[in-house]
Amino acid sequence: PSDTVRVREIAAAHAHLDGPLLPVLHEVQHALGHIPREALALIAEELDLSVAEIHGVVSFYPDFRTEPAGRRVLKVCRAEACQAVGAAALGEDLRARLGVDWHGTTGDGAVTLEPVYCLGLCACGPAALVDETPVARATAERLERMAREVVG
Ligand code: FES
Repeated sequence: PSDTVRVREIAAAHAHLDGPLLPVLHEVQHALGHIPREALALIAEELDLSVAEIHGVVSFYPDFRTEPAGRRVLKVCRAEACQAVGAAALGEDLRARLGVDWHGTTGDGAVTLEPVYCLGLCACGPAALVDETPVARATAERLERMAREVVG
């Protein structure tokens, strides 16, 4: 089905819930990889909400993205235990290497850099995730190499 149909189906499937908006947004992002601008109007219509209201929610939660992500998503832990073992410097180093800010995607569309807050790997930080792969005692060099590996 087209993206329009999928968005409508997802919204309609949750319309009966009390507070359907967050589950709908999560599912749309999961299905399409991001929440395109055009989806807001469709969701608004199905859920009987205003576009402004939905836009407010999408921009409030950093987990929602309105642009497609890079081919790989690199998530770097910025919570306390990892900060204590160099996560801040690691984050700075990665931002410089990739030439992006947090939530940014490299110009070639290869990598999106996201902060996360604890991956449950606190004993062996700094911790990161390259797509679904956890990385312990991460270094910027290793993360950049993994994130830039060509997706097969
Ligand atoms: Fe980084 Fe828990 S604080 S993994």
